[in-house]
Amino acid sequence: MRATVDRAGLDPQGRLPKVQIRRVRKGDLSKVRDVMEQTFGDFLERQLGTRPRQAFGGAQYVHHRWLMEPWGCFVAEEDSSKIVGAALAVTWGTVGVLGPVAVLTNYHNQTIGQQLIRAAQDFFDENKATLHGCVTYPTSPKHLYLYHKFGYRPKHLTAIMGRTIDRGPARVSAVAKSGKTPLTARRFSTLEEAKKKAALTRIHRITNAICRGLDLAKEIEIVDGLALGDTLLLERGRDVIGFAICHTPGVSEAPAGALYVKFLAIDPPHRKAEHLEQFVTLIEGLGQELGVQRVILPVYARYWAAYNILVQCGYQVDFTMIRMQRGKQEDYEDPADLVLDDWR
Ligand SMILES: CC(C)(COP(=O)(O)OP(=O)(O)OC[C@H]1O[C@@H](n2cnc3c(N)ncnc32)[C@H](O)[C@@H]1OP(=O)(O)O)[C@@H](O)C(=O)NCCC(=O)NCCS
Repeated sequence: MRATVDRAGLDPQGRLPKVQIRRVRKGDLSKVRDVMEQTFGDFLERQLGTRPRQAFGGAQYVHHRWLMEPWGCFVAEEDSSKIVGAALAVTWGTVGVLGPVAVLTNYHNQTIGQQLIRAAQDFFDENKATLHGCVTYPTSPKHLYLYHKFGYRPKHLTAIMGRTIDRGPARVSAVAKSGKTPLTARRFSTLEEAKKKAALTRIHRITNAICRGLDLAKEIEIVDGLALGDTLLLERGRDVIGFAICHTPGVSEAPAGALYVKFLAIDPPHRKAEHLEQFVTLIEGLGQELGVQRVILPVYARYWAAYNILVQCGYQVDFTMIRMQRGKQEDYEDPADLVLDDWR
């Protein structure tokens, strides 16, 4: 039974299907959030043997994602009245990122997840996203089977890494100690509108050099527009040589008490270990200013140089997920690029 999006689909007997897929509407947002929390709560309880108080530790995914990419957010609705599943998707230029996807536990294995994923795939195709990706649980046969059905291949682990930051003076990087000109971080939110535009163009050049067509502008704009955190621009003199989209606790993707980096990249011509190391120190400094206790940095293991630097900076793996990818430029990542990105 194939559901149609935003149209009542009929089954082969001409009846309305019980569960239909449609786009998220504003009035659905809290319900979608509840469905996600409850479903992941059930899943984690089965995995861990104990139910977490909050499935995502206070991180939020629904409201701002819907504002950022309303056409990429779908619900499964039973009898036109009960939301039983949801999927969020976003296009970063030519890269389509799927997730979270959730179907209420009592509704599992009735093809609802597949119908939601198909709706997201159609959205990617309509928007000409040529590389599609998600992260999932590497130990779950069901998840691997499900994404395989859509042509996704398991790739490398994504490690969500964290470090507790102390209240004392900020950690001083080896480079800063060595007396070389330190890099500085400017907050995107402090720029005038015209300068914001110029910064976005510069950032697009950086992401395009990492993966042709990759564009993070809407993530930066939503963080700025809704004050979900800030984007730090790593500068040498007046040149922007990197950026980091930071979420801070509240209604963002940062869990309670933590500063969370959604995406960080150093411009490939400037990819020196010391630049990432200094950037991490500057991000920790922002975390201290904001009074958070932890910094969370996600790293995809194919970016092996970046992973090594985080370990040297004292970061430890909190948990891992596996990245699944399909489409053009499927293995675009250069292990020497200094990129931290999270596809959750
Ligand atoms: C993952 C999830 C969204 C799937 O939703 P769903 O509605 O149950 O999925 P579907 O019924 O469309 O498809 C499940 C498929 O997996 C198969 N499956 C179920 N258990 C399986 C197992 N142990 N091993 C292999 N395949 C399995 C089903 O048979 C079905 O395939 P089929 O239609 O070809 O027979 C749902 O399980 C969920 O919400 N899980 C908790 C949250 C989560 O993990 N989200 C995804 C994070 S990436």
